[in-house]
Amino acid sequence: MNAALPPKHIAIIMDGNGRWASSLGKRRTYGHYIGSKIVDDITKASVALGIKYLTLYAFSTENWKRPASEVRFLISLLHTQIQKKETLFAENEVRFNTIGDVSVYPQKTQDMLKRVRELTKNNKRMVLTLALNYGSKLEITAACKKIAADIKKGELNVSDISEDLINKNLFTYDMPDVDLLIRTGGEKRVSNFLLWQSSYAELIFFDKYWPEFTKEDLKKAIEEFKHRKRRFGGL
Ligand code: IPE
Ligand code: IPE
Ligand code: MG
Repeated sequence: MNAALPPKHIAIIMDGNGRWASSLGKRRTYGHYIGSKIVDDITKASVALGIKYLTLYAFSTENWKRPASEVRFLISLLHTQIQKKETLFAENEVRFNTIGDVSVYPQKTQDMLKRVRELTKNNKRMVLTLALNYGSKLEITAACKKIAADIKKGELNVSDISEDLINKNLFTYDMPDVDLLIRTGGEKRVSNFLLWQSSYAELIFFDKYWPEFTKEDLKKAIEEFKHRKRRFGGL
């Protein structure tokens, strides 16, 4: 059908930072630091390739199980990195967005995220979304609660519940479904990422770790995507 169309929405599970650093005899946090640099390269490359939505899994609702020191490092890395991205976002006309429950982050980090979202809200070339304290199960549960509350208030009827209504109550309410889901790091699983939105995504797995991922790899994935036959259940 649309075999030659490029993906509009690419989502990436940026996995393997820790193992990459360990393989070099370094601390896991070093892998996270280098991984955060790769985000800049892939953001620029995605804009250049005409991708409209890039969604990156940065912290899952399950990642709190990690040692407190690693979690703390990831939170402070997020803060310092996003703060520095004004030029990158301005030059590439990127709108910054987040999905997930960011209310658990320090107030100053929440304020900073809000400020960058505000600052970039009119940028039109690409939407870069970071999934922060994100989990699909959390997201779908929150949507159910919101819809149930609206029904209880009498603002909605059970018969109003539709796929569209559920979509509108997800963190991704203003985004199209995922076309291409990429995971680095060798694991073949989706780890609670965009389960609803990836219902018909093409999946591509890379054995290399996220800090080794390059724009050439991104191009390769897009090329492979273009050769996939997407049937969406049809013929
Ligand atoms: C992905 O890399 C980044 C986060 C989950 C925050 P990992 O930290 O999971 O690295 P590995 O998979 O342990 O190597
Ligand atoms: C998925 O990676 C989460 C992020 C990349 C942020 P994990 O390393 O947490 O996933 P599992 O534990 O291997 O499934
Ligand atoms: Mg991992």
